[in-house]
Amino acid sequence: MPVSVASAIRSVLLTADPRAKAMAARAVARDWRLGRLDAVFDVGMPDRPARPERPELLLPRHMPKRRKGGSERGRIALWHALAHIEFVAIDLALDMAGRFGGEMSANFVGDFLAVAADEAMHFALIERRLRTLGSHYGALPAHDGLWDAATETAHDVAARLAIVPMVLEARGLDVTPAMIERLRTMGDEPGVRLLERILDDEINHVRIGATHFAAVCASRGEEINETWNLLITRHFRAGLKGPFNDSARAAAGLPRRTERALA
Ligand SMILES: [Fe+2]
Ligand SMILES: [Fe+2]
Repeated sequence: MPVSVASAIRSVLLTADPRAKAMAARAVARDWRLGRLDAVFDVGMPDRPARPERPELLLPRHMPKRRKGGSERGRIALWHALAHIEFVAIDLALDMAGRFGGEMSANFVGDFLAVAADEAMHFALIERRLRTLGSHYGALPAHDGLWDAATETAHDVAARLAIVPMVLEARGLDVTPAMIERLRTMGDEPGVRLLERILDDEINHVRIGATHFAAVCASRGEEINETWNLLITRHFRAGLKGPFNDSARAAAGLPRRTERALA
């Protein structure tokens, strides 16, 4: 008997084990694509998704400083931080589809479930990378607070799109090239290839976010840049900081002048 897509998504959000969550996220995306789930939004999404016992979650100011050097420990800390970002990104994409899918289109649901499946793949690949370095996800503390933006924007799909894909994931586009360079100087070629692949996917995620944001603005009769600015001022008080990866941002279809005005 088919289950509702909302209850399928909710159960992945409530799965704490990282590997089980990653596999379940990919299964939900596949089931939706194959028409095995009812387009019914009969249950709400949890305020916070389930988290495993490890990694220990620390406030940003309590996080140990990551040294810039090329030491083995520094490299593991970098991959661990990235694994955590991808892990939370699985839930962010699922929550987007499950929380706002009912008021949006089937296309929206499919897009963000596909994003969730990508994030699950990114997580799995990074987790594998960590293991080849003799570590694993959960071995180090991780940044608590990556869910704050979801809480801040749970009331409005436009606010969620403006902040999560169009600010936070776009920030990933800005910082990844420097990380790729760092790995290259360390001689970490498999790591370079992995981050290049992830960067390509992330450009697509930002594009998906920007496309649906534009559609919401059009349906509300609002101007895209103006609305984006307003929502950033209201819900992302840290503001946008450069330097920006202009070519990746342009490829993702992000408005350009707006971010300049805020830089
Ligand atoms: Fe990702
Ligand atoms: Fe992403």
